[in-house]
Amino acid sequence: MNNMGAGIAITGCGSAAPEAVLTNDHLAQMVATSDEWINTRTGMSNRHIASATESLSQLSAVAAQNAIAMAGITATDIDLIILATSTPDDLFGSACKIQGLIGATNAVAFDLGAACSGFIFALITASGFIRAGVYKNVLIIGADILSRWVDWSDRSSCVLFGDGAGAMVCQGTSQDDRLLSFGMYSNGSQNDSLNLNYYSQSKPLVENITAQYGSYKPITMNGKEVYRFAVAKVPEAISKAMFQANLTADDIDWLLLHQANQRIMDAVAKRLKIPTEKILSNIAEYGNTSAASIPLALDAAVRDGRVQPGHTIAASGFGAGLTWGAAIFKWG
Ligand code: ACO
Repeated sequence: MNNMGAGIAITGCGSAAPEAVLTNDHLAQMVATSDEWINTRTGMSNRHIASATESLSQLSAVAAQNAIAMAGITATDIDLIILATSTPDDLFGSACKIQGLIGATNAVAFDLGAACSGFIFALITASGFIRAGVYKNVLIIGADILSRWVDWSDRSSCVLFGDGAGAMVCQGTSQDDRLLSFGMYSNGSQNDSLNLNYYSQSKPLVENITAQYGSYKPITMNGKEVYRFAVAKVPEAISKAMFQANLTADDIDWLLLHQANQRIMDAVAKRLKIPTEKILSNIAEYGNTSAASIPLALDAAVRDGRVQPGHTIAASGFGAGLTWGAAIFKWG
């Protein structure tokens, strides 16, 4: 598909979340915590937890179908699918499974791993293919089922995470480019702050050769360090993107941040001098859904009419890696 010299239009979004809702009071039955502690420290009340029959691929397919319908195209129009996730159903990747589920027979699909920055990194990756004229219709999905990997006995992390999926359709356009600016960053020296590591045991195969046979083990996190990192780096990344796009804080209609903690979102808005009423937050209902949190929050705001065509959105994801990124775009 040749689409040389194209700008990018963001024409559809969709989302899906598991049915089961785990409340703060439920968590208080499991670990030494309380609704009051979780609410005041994070802004979270509920999170949705995937059941044995709800897979990442299936949630992503629903989100994708909703986004494709909103964009007014069909699954066979999609040229590329990028799935941002850290929790695929299959370690070989789940993007192709989703491709099969939605019948995107003309697309190529692959996974992208950048933790909670994954959706922003996927958007920026998609924009490169569109601007280069390689692909016209790109479906990006952010989805995670972190409940599979949480240490449910660790009160400092288990209260934070929930499951979900969100999707967006980006299309090449000869009209105005709606992706105004972006930046991607990582700092490997802080890699130890947030991990989902592989642990193994030696399995002797033949003399002098052992395979390391094991499994990924629960999330470990230095919450304070991640908090400090987010509050420092996210405003910096958004400020740089605003500067590149020749925008000031007054030009931003909505602040769309990774939903890690309401206090982080409020602190970022304060540093940027953007009123907190402009934050798109769904953290109370979903908690931190990792790569899904940005498109989940966007989808709700588009569907209830808060976000209107032409609105300028400053988005930022951040998380394990450590990675972070920002993108400023106009909806529609
Ligand atoms: N309930 C009750 N008490 C708790 C809980 C809990 N769930 N968790 C921790 N505490 C206790 C601690 O043990 C500590 O007690 P102590 O003073 O007796 O030692 C006290 O509360 C204060 O703990 P802090 O860690 O200082 O609490 P803080 O205000 O920093 O909040 C939090 C912790 C919510 C984790 C915060 O640091 C945070 O949001 N950090 C960012 C985490 C994050 O965003 N992670 C995801 C990144 S995205 C990704 O890539 C997946």
